[in-house]
Amino acid sequence: MHAVDLIRKKRDGQRLSRSELEFLITGYVRGEIPDYQMAAWNMAVYFKGMEPEEITDLTLIMAQSGDMLDLSAIQGTKVDKHSTGGVGDTTTLIVAPLVASLGIPVAKMSGRGLGHTGGTVDKLESIPGFKVTLSPEEFVQQVNAIGLSLVGQTGQLAPADKLLYALRDVTATVESIPLIASSIMSKKIAAGADGFVLDVKVGSGAFMKSEEDAIALARTMVQIGTLAKRQTVALVTDMNQPLGRGIGNALEVKEAILTLRGEGPQRLTELCIELSVEMLLLAGVTNDRSEARKRLEQSLVEKKALRKFSELIAAQGGDPRVLEDLSLLPQARYTRDIHAPSTGYVQSVDPMVIGVSAMELGAGRENKDTIIDLAVGVELQTEVGGPVRAGEVLATLYANDEKKLEQASVRALKAFQIGEARPVVPPTIYRKITAKEL
Ligand code: URA
Ligand code: CA
Repeated sequence: MHAVDLIRKKRDGQRLSRSELEFLITGYVRGEIPDYQMAAWNMAVYFKGMEPEEITDLTLIMAQSGDMLDLSAIQGTKVDKHSTGGVGDTTTLIVAPLVASLGIPVAKMSGRGLGHTGGTVDKLESIPGFKVTLSPEEFVQQVNAIGLSLVGQTGQLAPADKLLYALRDVTATVESIPLIASSIMSKKIAAGADGFVLDVKVGSGAFMKSEEDAIALARTMVQIGTLAKRQTVALVTDMNQPLGRGIGNALEVKEAILTLRGEGPQRLTELCIELSVEMLLLAGVTNDRSEARKRLEQSLVEKKALRKFSELIAAQGGDPRVLEDLSLLPQARYTRDIHAPSTGYVQSVDPMVIGVSAMELGAGRENKDTIIDLAVGVELQTEVGGPVRAGEVLATLYANDEKKLEQASVRALKAFQIGEARPVVPPTIYRKITAKEL
């Protein structure tokens, strides 16, 4: 086999076999196939696409290029959840203890934030003492003991994806649905769960800007999961404004705690419940959607989910008193409110601008080596559709650096459009993609 023939084959729109893809990917990981050939193949995929079985082969080959986590020592159906990344998206911190409180084992690996989107691992580190690194044995043991563990990546998951992604990043081949879908799913499959609930964000603050693209990505990922014999569903959800009100690590932990107390913002709560319903259905806890919802709402009301979060924090070395006393979270030295310039309705809150403001304050990474500040960020005081009077507070900024506070305040104000007409508020969830309807 020669790489050049496989590039030509894809260039001409043909499907590559599993052994051909294996030759290409494993050859690339071993350094036997050079970047220029792999780049040419990526570009051919960008233009010609791939077939579902072909994408699934690629996904599994990438998953198997490194460690495959073995969660078989954990009883029950392990369902993982994945978000394609948004602003103020703290759903994992809520959904994980919520479904675990109903007996679904959650063994979840999460990432760190990059750019304008946050990462669960960083958020968890704002809980005093919380350890995000466990050995694979400790990880499994903890899930068997309390039904829940949230950690950073251990081992080498899908190294082929890491190499390919870096190459795509510099060859204008990131924006290819087969390549994005296989990239995401290879890491999820390597992390060992039996089923996946995917939250595909769409909108100005998301990777996918149009509903059409988001649906196409969601379908492709559901197809891969299904062909790889992992039950998979996807929700296509709104990222035309930040999901929650807190943007920044400790601020998002605070919001997760409030939501677990039943005091969270409506859209965030709604999405968490819907994602959790899908997880309960996939895990086979019940096949009745309304019963699933009822049990989840009851867990929130009875504080079962909050107690599960407390157990998680204690098990991973953190201080569970944060759940009662939010002042134990990292606190910023300075705060500043930004005010509505006119009276009317909030037409839009640009999630990208808010995300970048939070990053500018130090909450996020401009590159992999940025040291982040867990205390800082933005707290929205309103949302799209909200009526505001001139001078009313739109958001509060938290900072440890006055100059950054000044800059970020100017930027954050630009995220808000105020107008006279009452706007149409976008839905939180656009649609669900299941294997059945593919
Ligand atoms: N996120 C991923 O993990 N991979 C992609 O290709 C794009 C976004
Ligand atoms: Ca994320």
